[in-house]
Amino acid sequence: MCGIIGYIGTRQATPILINGLRKLEYRGYDSAGVSVLDTGAGASRVVRCRGKLAALEDKLTREPAAGTVGMGHTRWATHGRPSEENSHPHKSGPISVIHNGIIENHLTLRAELVAAGAKFSSETDTEIFAHLVEHALIAGAPDLTTAVRRSIAKVRGSFAFVVMSDKEPNTIVAAKNSSPLVVGLGDGENYVASDVTAILNETRKVIFLEEGEMVTVTRTGVAITDFEGNPRTHEPKTITWSAVQAEKGGFKHYMLKEIHEQPRAVADTLVGRVNLEADDVSLDGIELDVSKIKRIIFIACGTSYHASMVGEFLVESMARIPTEVDLASEFRYRDPILGPGDLVVAVSQSGETLDTMEAIREAKRKGAQVFAISNVVESSIPRLADYAFYTHAGPEIGVASTKAFTTQLVAISLFAIHLGRRTGTLSKERARELLAELVALPNKMRDIVESGAQIQAIARRYGAANGFLFLGRGSQYPIALEGALKLKEISYIHAEGYAAGEMKHGPIALIDEHLPVVVLVPRGPSYEKTVSNLAEVRARQGKVIAIASRGDNEIGGHSDDVIVVPDTALELQPILTVLPLQMLSYYVADFKGTDIDQPRNLAKSVTVE
Ligand code: F6R
Repeated sequence: MCGIIGYIGTRQATPILINGLRKLEYRGYDSAGVSVLDTGAGASRVVRCRGKLAALEDKLTREPAAGTVGMGHTRWATHGRPSEENSHPHKSGPISVIHNGIIENHLTLRAELVAAGAKFSSETDTEIFAHLVEHALIAGAPDLTTAVRRSIAKVRGSFAFVVMSDKEPNTIVAAKNSSPLVVGLGDGENYVASDVTAILNETRKVIFLEEGEMVTVTRTGVAITDFEGNPRTHEPKTITWSAVQAEKGGFKHYMLKEIHEQPRAVADTLVGRVNLEADDVSLDGIELDVSKIKRIIFIACGTSYHASMVGEFLVESMARIPTEVDLASEFRYRDPILGPGDLVVAVSQSGETLDTMEAIREAKRKGAQVFAISNVVESSIPRLADYAFYTHAGPEIGVASTKAFTTQLVAISLFAIHLGRRTGTLSKERARELLAELVALPNKMRDIVESGAQIQAIARRYGAANGFLFLGRGSQYPIALEGALKLKEISYIHAEGYAAGEMKHGPIALIDEHLPVVVLVPRGPSYEKTVSNLAEVRARQGKVIAIASRGDNEIGGHSDDVIVVPDTALELQPILTVLPLQMLSYYVADFKGTDIDQPRNLAKSVTVE
């Protein structure tokens, strides 16, 4: 999500930090900052601002930061709006900290630190860590490394931290847990970074830290340990990738990288929201008065609309509140009947889609309350809404949405569970099962995204087809629509998504031996009916690619190809079944050689009608 770089050496740090951050610019961010330590003076200067790197560079010409040790950060806001105060680095006394990730227990830690006299100057979870390290030193930690180690023991969540102290000007300490961190090795100088791209112009000799490791970096060496202080050794690797390949983390396209980032993105979206002790969900402190909600209306466009369609199933089944879904571009022109009993849920990855914004304005004019689900903190849609709840997918670069979609489904599931517990229609026991299944999703998703070879082979077989049909029932119907949309967008092959029960009412006429039909048929109440649809396709020589549950031994007899997904709760199946469809589209498009990350005629954010 955020970009991180740290440098310790003999050259001026600022230009190295800025050059490194520039290499991370493709990810998009909302603010940037540096902390540079003048070793001689034993003092660091923090310069940060909201906006693009150019704004920071401009500020640095007015407020130069001199020194040979430093850290730089580009921020993608998660806790606290994008602003100068919330930009990294954060300072507490002599300690400077930058951070990528989310501190799950930040509210408890903040309360403890405030009670112990800490004064906070930002709304971020990161600042907590600067205070923890300072407190550890005051409490007697002999050095920065020990203070960081003791502070890590108090923190829950995902993180890559880089920490400096004005009192130890010859050391940088960094730690990693579920957020990437790489150490760059130079001659009389060393680096740390979130992405190898940031340091590739300086060195190609690197060490990728593993989970639960921290490193003490000086000008002449690096000492890696685990969080208990036991030494770890790694052979340095030499990077042979080009800078462009490195930006994509070694993946051929951003889309493929983002497909692979989904387990992490889903885990980040769950952090701090799932309360397994109380069998409940916190919507970041938002408490909706369910007695006043008579109806819920989802509004969105494109992929976010498909997530909203799944949302209708989730909210109705868990909270039993009447729910509708509408395309934002239609909603605003149909003079919708709305009033104070309506909660409009606006779903938008970018938070800038004009149709969705105008639909929100219409809803507010008519007295409805608006709850926004977005991936971009402080973007226009969450600012316009009464409530804002964020997915933590990190910036999505590929135009075709992947990780934004699955994190939307997770956010909507959390929303539905929260409502269901408050309406009393979702039992504690079922909530517990659903939450346990949500937490188990990242590993199951990893299973799927790491089994690309089979899907690639299927894609090659059907890549020359003129059209595809996608079929699903219930909450798999929106996934069929999403599968068809993905394929159209990036491979330019015509594809239709249909409710499987509708097939006989028209699209069955399309079926012949040339038409690949992707059927979503995981275990569940509609399984048998969907298998009948699949048999009807086969009877007309259509080629069936089934997306089925692992362990389903029947389905192979009815299909040409079977892609299996692990089992999960019925309500959460769409989060898994969509993954093979994203991958199928990707590999078909790759086979055809289209411009996958920037398909023709499309833009990432649609700010016109
Ligand atoms: C498809 C895609 C688009 C967007 C749509 C809405 O891959 O990305 O269909 O989902 O333009 O965008 P947001 O979610 O930003 O409002």
